[in-house]
This record gives sequence, C-alpha cells and structure tokens, in this order.
Amino acid sequence: AITRHYKLDISLRNVSRLCHTKSMVTVNGQFPGPRIVAREGDRLVIRVVNHIQNNITIHWHGIRQLQTGWSDGPAYITQCPIQTGQSFVYNYTVVGQRGTLWWHAHASWLRSSVHGPLVILPRHGVPYPFAKPHKEVPIVFGEWFNADPEAVISQALQTGGGPNVSDAYTINGLPGPFYNCSAKDTFKLKVKPGKNYLLRIINAALNDELFFSIAKHTLTVVEADAVYVKPFDTETILIAPGQTTNVLLKTKPQHPNATFFMTARPYVTGQGTFDNSTVAGIMEYETSPKTHQSGFSTKQLPLFKPNLPALNDTQFATKFTGRLRSLADAQFPANVPQNVDRQIFFTVGLGTNPCSKNKTCQGPNGTMFAASVNNVSFVLPTTALLQAHFAGQSQGVYAPYFPVTPLSPFNYTGNPPNNTMVSRGTKLVVLPFNTSVELIMQDTSILGAESHPLHLHGFNFFVVGQGFGNFNPKKDPSKFNLVDPIERNTVGVPSGGWVAIRFLADNPGVWFMHCHLEVHTSWGLKMAWLVLDGNLPNQKLLPPPADLPKC
Ligand code: C2O
Repeated sequence: AITRHYKLDISLRNVSRLCHTKSMVTVNGQFPGPRIVAREGDRLVIRVVNHIQNNITIHWHGIRQLQTGWSDGPAYITQCPIQTGQSFVYNYTVVGQRGTLWWHAHASWLRSSVHGPLVILPRHGVPYPFAKPHKEVPIVFGEWFNADPEAVISQALQTGGGPNVSDAYTINGLPGPFYNCSAKDTFKLKVKPGKNYLLRIINAALNDELFFSIAKHTLTVVEADAVYVKPFDTETILIAPGQTTNVLLKTKPQHPNATFFMTARPYVTGQGTFDNSTVAGIMEYETSPKTHQSGFSTKQLPLFKPNLPALNDTQFATKFTGRLRSLADAQFPANVPQNVDRQIFFTVGLGTNPCSKNKTCQGPNGTMFAASVNNVSFVLPTTALLQAHFAGQSQGVYAPYFPVTPLSPFNYTGNPPNNTMVSRGTKLVVLPFNTSVELIMQDTSILGAESHPLHLHGFNFFVVGQGFGNFNPKKDPSKFNLVDPIERNTVGVPSGGWVAIRFLADNPGVWFMHCHLEVHTSWGLKMAWLVLDGNLPNQKLLPPPADLPKC
C-alpha cells in the first residue's frame, strides 16, 4: 500500500453549454472534476484549496472513514467549511473497499458542478471477479443549469416553493444532441469489436433518478456502490443520485456499420415539476486507425436509439432493484448482521411548514415545503457536530436523542394523512459502539413523486427487505433476505413503500444520513447518528487534524 497525494483547486471558470456561458465552480478547471484513483489499502492525502467566495467542503461518498470521521466532509456535521482562501487536507486510508465511488462538494448545492469519480482498484494481484476489461470508462451523470444552482436553491428556500429544474442532463459534462445548440457537446465512446468495457457509472445529478441504456447492447451489472454483486444482464439500468453502478459492456464480435446512442432520462412516479429531457452520448466502433486518423468513421452510418422504460415504469424499477444481490462468495462474503440490538422506524417524506407572518409562500396551500425524518426537519448547526461531540460541548449544539417512533402514526400511504407538519431540530440517534441496527424507512408519499435515495455516511448497509404500502412488522420481517442482500451506501425508499436495512455501528463518529435528492436535503430530509467510541484503541475516533477549519 502506498500514499497518494492529490490537490483539488476550487475556482470559477467560464463554461458554455446549450449556447449559454456562465461562471461555474470547477475543480482544477474541469467539469466534471478529475478522477481520483487509489488501490485498496492505500492512503489518500488530498489538499483542497478554496478560491471561490462560497464556503465549501468535499465528501468522499461511500468511503468508510474508519476512525477518520474528520475527513468525511459534510459541512457542519464533521467539519466547519473551508472558507475563501483557505485549504484543508483530507487524509484517510481505504480499508476493505474496492470499486467505484465518487467525491463531491458537501455544502449547499455546490456539488452540482463540484464532483468526480473516486476509483478504488483491488489490491495488486487480486483480480476482478468478472472478465478482465479491455478498458475502464467513467460515465458520470450530471445536471446542467443555465442559472447558478446556488441562486436556484436560495430562491426556493426564500419563497417556500419548489426550485426551478435543470436545463439538461449531462454525460461526463456533455448534454448531447437532443438539446438545442448542443450537438457539439456530445460524449463519444470509441470501442473495438469483441471486447469487454467496464463502465463505472455514477449518478451525480442533483435531483433525479435515471434510467440508462445503450442501443442494441446488453449491460452486465457487476458492482453497485463499490460492492461486487451477482452478475446479471439487463438492457437498462436504474441509478439514483448518490449511487454508483459498474457494468460490463461486451461489444459486438464483428465491426457493425452503425452508430449507437446511449441515453439517460429520469424515473419519476407522480406529479410534479422535473426535468424530463433526455441526455445522449454516442458509441461508435473504431475503424482501422490507418484509414481514419480520428478513429471515427466519416460516412453517415445508421443510427440506433435505445428504448428506455416509460418515465413512471415502477414495474421495471422494482424488478431491477430486486435483482441486485451481493456476490456473497468465500472471497467477498456478505457479513449481514444476523441479530439486531436496536430496531428503529423512520418515516421519510415531504411535508409543510407554516409560512412566516405577512408572507405568502409558494408551497402547497400557501405553506412552505419541508421534508423530514419522523416529522423532524433537520437544522444544520453553526458549528460542526463532530467537533462539539469531541470537545464534550454538545449543549446548545445538538440534542442527543431522536424521536424514534413517528409523532403521529398513520396510514402512511393511504389517503392524505393529517399530520404533515414538521418541527425543526438538530437531534441525533446515539449508538453505543458495535450496536447492530435494523432501520425501517417508510415513505409517507404525501407530496412526493420520487423514491428517496437515502444515503448513510460512514457505513455500508444491507438492504434486507423492501415493499409497497405500509411496512407490516408482523409479516414483512419473515421475508427478509439475510443471506445475500445487496450491500450499499445509498438506497431508494420507494415512493409509497418502505425499505429495511441493517448495519453494524462499528465506526465511531458523527454520521450524516440524508436523501440524496438535493432539494429534499435542503428541505430537511436529513439526520445524524452519533456512534460512541469502543473500548479498544482501534475502536476510537482519532483526534482531529491540526488544520481542521474553524467556523
Ligand atoms: Cu453523496 Cu452526504 O452525500
């Protein structure tokens, strides 16, 4: 294992898409940002320098951060943000993980343009449990706003209404030919016949779960959220914001004289405003490099477009997520907690807050949109929770308890329930070290039209069950999969349904959990866990680095 050094410079750049130029926050001048590569066991030392006017932090999405919670990154949870002109060095070891993860800004909506792949290769000499790819290609989905995303969300929070939607989706920063004035900004993948390509797919979009497909080619899913899965073939994948999926793409044995589109567009189940446009990239087979220097054919070739499922194809979505199983072999076992110390029930969903006096809000019936976990809309403190905890100064910063049963039990998915009002607070669930947790997350489907991709920092969890309607504590647990459930860090709580996850709280620190639809996070669909130190030295949070930013 080695130590790898990176430097990320956060600065403004003029970027043009859709014939619209704007000043955008970029990393090392790039959008999406640079790829960070490590091997399992390596240490990463990454200096982040802030040259912009906003405060910023970087989160290493999916990295366990064992004992190094200070490097996790969510603003006001594990650290105060890096201020203008300041820097901070993130320093952590990649333990027991290999696969595709990603990094992104974790303050306000800056992650819309501040993100990039984080690729963890297996240890030297340890092969992939699937065909060795000829090439590895990151595919990063994003969202382009002609406006400044920071202005979009701050306006929504001020008026109480929903934010404006994005103007395009992007593949590796490029919207593609289906948008006006965008044909030149199209991602192109050049392939050779008869080879395997490993696509490392990342959904870095702010607010949309996406279907993705390549015309006339089958994708073999081999990994999700940096955990190997039992391989399966599919025409289309579904990927929620925050999730990563590795697929093998096997190219045709003979050179086909055709061009193939790859496309992505959202999966949305109900009413609401969303960007329902389609991003496209192009896949072409290389002709002999001797005949064409560019490697691309110059003739007009027949063009094939994939058939994506309908926007609201819940049947496909359910079937797809149901097929995801941990590889769970001798080399990569699924260590599913078989016993549960604490069972916790969360409702997650949208609600409303009263509008402040003498104001008209643009939310439902003149209220403000809010979102909550067990009717608590989480408020970020003005100092970092982890720092307050470490210093023993929680008073006035957070309450060390969380209402673990919903305030008013109701038929979550039936007629509109009466209690959609939320209260605001900064409350934590406190867990002794090594607590085995079973968490049921029930969507309340009041106003929502999408599944909520819930992301837990600091852990992987096992998705032991999911279903539609109300969770039934008498019947549903008997159907839980405790053998080979998918292990991941972000799971979609289905609109009008529930999921059950299990994890072992073996990582001391304060760990954020939130909906990875950025607008829902902004409305308060977030909370935090405090995992206490264990008794052994390797069960304790390490002391904070000297350059940890101050608030
Ligand atoms: Cu990918 Cu808390 O985020």
